[in-house]
Amino acid sequence: MKHLFKYFLIISLGLFMNSCYYDAIQDEVIIDNGNGGGTTEVSYATDIVPLWSQCTGCHGSIKPTLNINSYTNLLNGYVIAGDANNSVLYKSLLGTGGISLMPPGSKWPQSKIDLVKTWINQGAKNN
Ligand code: HEC
Repeated sequence: MKHLFKYFLIISLGLFMNSCYYDAIQDEVIIDNGNGGGTTEVSYATDIVPLWSQCTGCHGSIKPTLNINSYTNLLNGYVIAGDANNSVLYKSLLGTGGISLMPPGSKWPQSKIDLVKTWINQGAKNN
């Protein structure tokens, strides 16, 4: 009987410690700053610029209208720092607000669109 109790104690201790472990992991996943992404800062150079490879075929120079390789050009009329919803660039990825869907005819997966949204809402930094 004494042994049985000892095993019970060990097993329940194991379960208890396990559940604590999972609780800790879940807390990290739930944290969200409301920008459509996590709390980590999006980097323009590392996270955003590589996405433009799907745009440069048409927007690699000033024609048509936008040279997406130019941060200055992006911030000059296409991106309102801190306000994705009113940024032409973000609206073009959704195809909303009278802006043609970009890339034309093939909407990006939501995760990529959200990355751009988060970058803009975090201040559209040249980081
Ligand atoms: C197949 C060529 C092509 C590709 C690829 C393309 N675009 Fe465009 N884009 C255009 C054309 C043409 C226009 C201008 C005509 C229009 O507004 O429909 C334009 C206009 C825009 C505008 C300005 C809209 C406005 O009304 O001022 C934005 C912003 C834009 N594109 C962003 C992007 C982004 C971001 C990508 C990549 C995800 C992309 N485009 C990929 C051809 C393209």
